[in-house]
Amino acid sequence: MSVNKEVKRITTHTIQKMKLKGEKISMITAYDFSFAKLFDAAGIDVILVGDSASNVMAGHETTLPITLDQMIYHAQSVLRAIDHCLVVVDLPFGTYQSNSDIALASAIRIMKETDAHAIKLEGGEEAIDSIKRIVAAGIPVMGHLGLTPQSIYKFGTYTVRAKEEEEANKLKKDALLLQEAGCFATVLEKIPANLAKEVSESLTIPTIGIGAGNACDGQVLVMHDMLGINTEFKPRFLRQYLNLHEQITSAVQQYIADVKSKDFPNEKESY
Ligand code: KIV
Repeated sequence: MSVNKEVKRITTHTIQKMKLKGEKISMITAYDFSFAKLFDAAGIDVILVGDSASNVMAGHETTLPITLDQMIYHAQSVLRAIDHCLVVVDLPFGTYQSNSDIALASAIRIMKETDAHAIKLEGGEEAIDSIKRIVAAGIPVMGHLGLTPQSIYKFGTYTVRAKEEEEANKLKKDALLLQEAGCFATVLEKIPANLAKEVSESLTIPTIGIGAGNACDGQVLVMHDMLGINTEFKPRFLRQYLNLHEQITSAVQQYIADVKSKDFPNEKESY
């Protein structure tokens, strides 16, 4: 990132001010240079280099297998494309849960090797020591509560979290702990809309919802889901803005047909 660029950059402070002004925050995932460049130029506020790369880029069933080196590769590609948005990078499973020394070392690698602006990690009370160490080192941290996909084998399913009072109370407590520990924002994933509203109103830091209703301070979607590249994944919370699966399939089928019929390349497309 060049210090001389005239472009107004979005920082963690910008999105905190957006909450104060009631201006909603838009966030989308990206994992490579070309899409990140498109999203940044389109005016997105925040790009998340999510560990969902494990699913949508690498084809794994869960987010657990992706490594820190692989996340760094994706984040480096995204950061090369960015002029104005805030870029947050997920700490992948196994790179922060053991202890706060390991968590801090992982966060430092992301910041040093990718030029990212912040990291995200999953969990509440159990992650607080690590969050405090990372924040104390000057690294902005985004939290992630509710459905935390790195714990999928503990939950057993991807259904809505915190429907019962006990889990809802823990989530409310965890959200306050994240704020006290210095998180600049938190994701709320797949929880009832009224709970997300209560949490969003109780916090001074912004909440970014996915499947958490309209009262969150911002929204995030996985790019492959909202662009309709995935066809199998159709949860209720997903609004699909394009059907790229259909469009790409028909474009590639047309290309195959043109090659087979010797229509492509024509004279104008030849030297
Ligand atoms: O990895 C990811 O894409 C995420 C979003 C679903 C919030 O964490």
